[in-house]
Amino acid sequence: MKEEHQLHMLRYTLTEQIVHGMEVSNLAYELGKELSLPQELCYELAVAGIVHDIGKIPLSGYVEGDDTLVVEEMRFVRMHAKLSYELLKDRGYSRFILDSILYHHENMDGSGYPDNLSGEQIPYGARILRICDVYCALTSNRPYRRAFDRDTAIELMIDEIKNFDMEIFIAFQRVVHDHPQREIRLEGIEETIEGELRQ
Ligand SMILES: [Fe+2]
Repeated sequence: MKEEHQLHMLRYTLTEQIVHGMEVSNLAYELGKELSLPQELCYELAVAGIVHDIGKIPLSGYVEGDDTLVVEEMRFVRMHAKLSYELLKDRGYSRFILDSILYHHENMDGSGYPDNLSGEQIPYGARILRICDVYCALTSNRPYRRAFDRDTAIELMIDEIKNFDMEIFIAFQRVVHDHPQREIRLEGIEETIEGELRQ
């Protein structure tokens, strides 16, 4: 991921973080199914998807509204995977879920974080989440850019293919082609709620 994108990663609103978690959760579940994982692991991927970035919430308070902290922000961004893991580790989540969360920013070529793992050292669930996380981020609006469409997002990911597990990436492409409409749109929900309230 480009550095300027990382700089904005901690500036999500809470709503955006929840929506992002839901989108990653749904996609990770479907990708697990496509990869013929047992149902239980597909559910665990869905859980990991919801909470994978929870470590950004305490971090966001340290950087919001302060443009002078750019270098420190980069460091904060890289702390969030470990912090998500630390927040959840003694709360009864499975090893599979915790490993998926802790390592969801590791890259296949060893350039990721927190531990610079590479290839099959990276837990399988984390390799799945990595792909879902990047795709959902690229296909969402951000304060500094509009959402990329599906095909552009996939092209951008192919440019960075060194980051991803090739076998999982091929299955992921099948999932997004079969289910092109996956964004969670709060606008529609808000209109529905208003309609209900007027009645
Ligand atoms: Fe993350």
